[in-house]
Amino acid sequence: MKIGVFDSGFGGLTVLRALLERLPGADYTYLGDTARLPYGAKSRATVARYAVSSAHFLVEQQHADYLVIACNTASALALDAIREAVPVPVLGVIDTGANAAQAATKSGDVLVMATAATVESHAYAAACGHRGLRVIEKASPLLVPLVEEGWINHPVTEEVLNIYLSELLDEAAQAGLQPDTLILGCTHYPLLRANFERALPPSIRVIDSAEVTAGQVAAALCLPEEACKPDGKVHARRFYATDSVAKFRRLGSRFLGEAIDAVDLIDLGG
Ligand code: DGL
Repeated sequence: MKIGVFDSGFGGLTVLRALLERLPGADYTYLGDTARLPYGAKSRATVARYAVSSAHFLVEQQHADYLVIACNTASALALDAIREAVPVPVLGVIDTGANAAQAATKSGDVLVMATAATVESHAYAAACGHRGLRVIEKASPLLVPLVEEGWINHPVTEEVLNIYLSELLDEAAQAGLQPDTLILGCTHYPLLRANFERALPPSIRVIDSAEVTAGQVAAALCLPEEACKPDGKVHARRFYATDSVAKFRRLGSRFLGEAIDAVDLIDLGG
């Protein structure tokens, strides 16, 4: 089984990291479309065009049998377009996050923080709404560059996060919601999970869609269950980026939690 993991950049490596823990017995090819990042500030048509060309690369040139769209923005805006474009199963992170929120919430009131494009698409609101949940979404675009800068435990990041969260909690209170669950709706936010947990009231549980997505891939692919276990063989892990491989290696290792030795540069056009 060769799993293709796609993201606009490095953040999806948090999903790959979770996948490697859950399914060490698969081969992985990861593509970060770093030349065209950020997706979170772009239109649906542009994100779909970029995401479809990336999916074609993973399936046609890398022979992926299964695609995981780790990017929340691409999952929110382009999942249907990707599914139409490639002949393999494609899993996005929006439904997996909504499933986890449904399992976690008692009040039925859920908060979502994500990029501007994801929030404007209301994909999380729709997915949660189908499951009978009430949702307040908040765009928090400053967090992506802060994480890429490595400012994880930095006072500026703490301050920015506090401002976003207090605005979000005020909105929820005004709407009469009693949220007990918050979805980290962007690939970069799992790196700030501890910051979120520190800043939020203890009654609000944080959902990391990276972990949940890995669980769902395992559930879909691990039949029989032994397929998920380490099998003693060396499995391929290939990394591709559409911009600086040096930067990918440097920043990517922060997201993956281990060194990335080799990254190949590819050109997917503009
Ligand atoms: N990968 C994007 C997401 O999860 C964040 C970075 C970007 O804007 O491209 O929404």
